[in-house]
Amino acid sequence: MATVSDPEKRSEDEAAAAGPPPPNTADAVQSQSQAKLGELAAKRAPVPEDRREPVLRLDGVTISYSGAAAVCDVTMDVFRQQVTAFIGPSGCGKTTLLRSLNRMNDLVAGATLDGKITYHGHDLYGSAVDPVEVRRRIGMVFQRPNPFPKSIYDNVAFGLRLHGMKDRLDERVEEALHKTALWDEVKDRLKSSALALSGGQQQRLCIARALAVDPEVLLMDEPAASLDPIATLRIEELIAELRETYTIVIVTHNMQQASRISDRTAFFTMGPDREGYLVEAGDTAKIFTNPTESLTEDYVSGRFG
Ligand SMILES: Nc1ncnc2c1ncn2[C@@H]1O[C@H](COP(=O)(O)OP(=O)(O)OP(=O)(O)O)[C@@H](O)[C@H]1O
Ligand SMILES: [Mg+2]
Repeated sequence: MATVSDPEKRSEDEAAAAGPPPPNTADAVQSQSQAKLGELAAKRAPVPEDRREPVLRLDGVTISYSGAAAVCDVTMDVFRQQVTAFIGPSGCGKTTLLRSLNRMNDLVAGATLDGKITYHGHDLYGSAVDPVEVRRRIGMVFQRPNPFPKSIYDNVAFGLRLHGMKDRLDERVEEALHKTALWDEVKDRLKSSALALSGGQQQRLCIARALAVDPEVLLMDEPAASLDPIATLRIEELIAELRETYTIVIVTHNMQQASRISDRTAFFTMGPDREGYLVEAGDTAKIFTNPTESLTEDYVSGRFG
């Protein structure tokens, strides 16, 4: 006869006590999350045009690799506390342009930029501008979660230490983890390796690491592309909350994602010469329902790309 100390029997008993499993937990979480996104979207009133504040202004921006243009002559604004989505087919220069917004392309050999990018009116590429400070104010999150092989705590504290923001270290780390809804999940294992977290948790940790240094702008390059649908929705929920405080630019291949979480959308494509260019930028609702250009309509309706 099985006794209570029999682990197999005990887990059967526990399962019986817990009752039948919900029909499909993944579906339940997904529909709950989608409902929450809908709620967040409903609360968000569009900012009238005359009250939009440009944070970043791109004027005739061309970025080349070893002299060959990857993306040409882009002129557009990124507005404060708005989510701007970059969409378009693979290779049209979305990542290239995104990286130029916090001078990450300085680190790529052979990359050059023509035209002008201003940040609150200051030339982002001006000779007196410190690229390290630029990257503190304009943070970046990559497609693949890239935590350092360090503890959860040390990952979040990394930028704080780098930038000499060492006062209130514990407090700032905790704040950043709260902002990405990770605190409750990790508060008891802050000293454990970040690499032991799930993919979705690692990505939220990378977002916490970027937020810890108190940036104004967050650049996100397909931040959910490597995640499962539930982890993706959690990232989307997070973006919908962060946009109340931060200015966000996100690259995505997921049209539903762009339409769910962005206020503005910029559609890029490339010509036969494979040089990328901006087709149009505008309010997301307009780009997805009534774009000016037929190229945009073909892309957002799935007829191309
Ligand atoms: N480091 C690099 N050196 C040389 N060429 C590059 C480099 N990075 C990108 N390119 C080229 O620049 C062009 C634009 O690439 P980019 O990665 O910006 O496109 P993308 O729109 O982000 O594409 P995807 O949707 O596939 O991520 C491509 O032709 C690519 O091969
Ligand atoms: Mg890319």
